[in-house]
Amino acid sequence: MSESFPYADGQARQSTAPVPSDPPDREWPSATRYARHLEAYYDAVNHAYDDWSSGIHRRLGARLVEIASPLPGERLLDVGCGTGLVTQMAAERVGTSGEVFGVDIAKRLLEVAQLRASPHVRFFHGPAEALVFSDCTFDVVTIGDSLPYLSDPRRALEEAHRVLRRGSRIAVSVLDRALSTPAQEVYHERLLALELRHPVVVPRPPGDRKRLGEPEVLARLLASAGFTDVVTTIMVTGGRAATAREWTDLMMGAGPSSHALLSVLGPSVRADFEADLTERMRQLGEDEAFRYHHPFTFAEAIRP
Ligand SMILES: C[S@@+](CC[C@H](N)C(=O)[O-])C[C@H]1O[C@@H](n2cnc3c(N)ncnc32)[C@H](O)[C@@H]1O
Repeated sequence: MSESFPYADGQARQSTAPVPSDPPDREWPSATRYARHLEAYYDAVNHAYDDWSSGIHRRLGARLVEIASPLPGERLLDVGCGTGLVTQMAAERVGTSGEVFGVDIAKRLLEVAQLRASPHVRFFHGPAEALVFSDCTFDVVTIGDSLPYLSDPRRALEEAHRVLRRGSRIAVSVLDRALSTPAQEVYHERLLALELRHPVVVPRPPGDRKRLGEPEVLARLLASAGFTDVVTTIMVTGGRAATAREWTDLMMGAGPSSHALLSVLGPSVRADFEADLTERMRQLGEDEAFRYHHPFTFAEAIRP
């Protein structure tokens, strides 16, 4: 069953130290326009999420769980759990002697997650930036492909640090935009140009997230939240679209910004956008046209 934030049931221990208790702070940041936009986006794509782009999310999840290496009997928290891919793989590792919790702001994703979950998995609807758990509660925290989308990544990491026990570990995966292909660069540049002349506003998170997935930037962020012994690895997969239509269909599932605009384009605006994209891709040459990467940095670190 998915619980409504800020409700915490008997399985979450009573807080020994403050989970913020006044309502405005507890609701933060779910009330911001960006957070509402994000929740609406993930709720809209929930049915296609797991199988998007040849199942890249499944592969990423499996790698993250491998890195986190949850052991039988451990208690694990999956932050920004989405459809529960990581949550369930982790649950299988900790077994019924362990416990797994998932937290997310998108209700429909939590419903999907609940359908696949083992009985020793519990879900909470609420923000990563104000976790409903006691200090020093978990042996492992995982944050799979969620950090750049959060309203406040740094605060979410500080929360993860707070709820982890001393000597326990965190495992994180983040898209590394620096390893995007020339075709992705061209696409984002054209999308931004379209956004500037389109009436629809695309909500953006506060701050610049573009470099968050670069190994040294991610390592610094983890260190600034109090983690030590950061180790990073990289995984790059990718593919190629045959046409601009195939590309835009794919990119609609790539993230909230693409979806916000592409999903509301009328047929003629979309056709013009795709014609422009086709021409720009042609200029890149046959090798680079419509080629994309899914480049991810994985980081593991210790909560001292
Ligand atoms: C790309 S999905 C990743 C889902 C999952 N971790 C996985 O690996 O498949 C990003 C997730 O972050 C969630 N999210 C975004 N902002 C959040 C916040 N402030 N607190 C909790 N979850 C959030 C979204 O709803 C979405 O489920």
